[in-house]
Amino acid sequence: MKRLAILLSGRGSNFEAIAANIARGSIDASIAVVLSNRRDARGLQIARERGLNAVALPSKGMDREAYDRGLIAELRKYSVDLVCLAGYMRLLSASFIREFPNRILNIHPSLLPAFPGLDAQHQALAYGVKVTGCTVHFVDEYLDAGPILLQAAVPVLDQDTEETLSARILAEEHRIYSEAIRIVLSGQYRIEGRRVILG
Ligand code: GRF
Repeated sequence: MKRLAILLSGRGSNFEAIAANIARGSIDASIAVVLSNRRDARGLQIARERGLNAVALPSKGMDREAYDRGLIAELRKYSVDLVCLAGYMRLLSASFIREFPNRILNIHPSLLPAFPGLDAQHQALAYGVKVTGCTVHFVDEYLDAGPILLQAAVPVLDQDTEETLSARILAEEHRIYSEAIRIVLSGQYRIEGRRVILG
């Protein structure tokens, strides 16, 4: 069975959705480890409650290369097949990316390439777009930039606040992240330049 690593920094709702899909048998994989750069991440707590391996590797004040060396060493212990970033709030170094070529996924709460970086839902509201959504993509060394696996669109309503819009997007995040993981684990795709061809 394929082994996932989940990297997170906070709430961990995407991790919970993935764990729930594994539990109900709709993703054929196991979560080998949940790793966080923040000790106080709620996601780590949930991982412990679920009896999963939960590792805190604090990043505060650490240089990226040195931190990522520690991260790689930790992940090697768990023989991980696929790394899923789920609200992991740090850029990964080139050496980390090389360690897991096309084996790192991220979820971002906008239709990339629109609104990369922090507060994507706020950016969408402030810009006045009528449609936004979420994106699951392969991770390269740039921010929110690698080849796109799946996207889902949601409408932006006139009465939306950041909270209501974020909640609408989050429901889609929870759906398409698991779908993207299934696709990658099945091997039913190929990457041609920036394009991910499914099937
Ligand atoms: C999500 O909106 C995700 O798209 C972004 O960070 C947020 C993480 O939420 N990368 P959660 O920790 O999975 O609840």
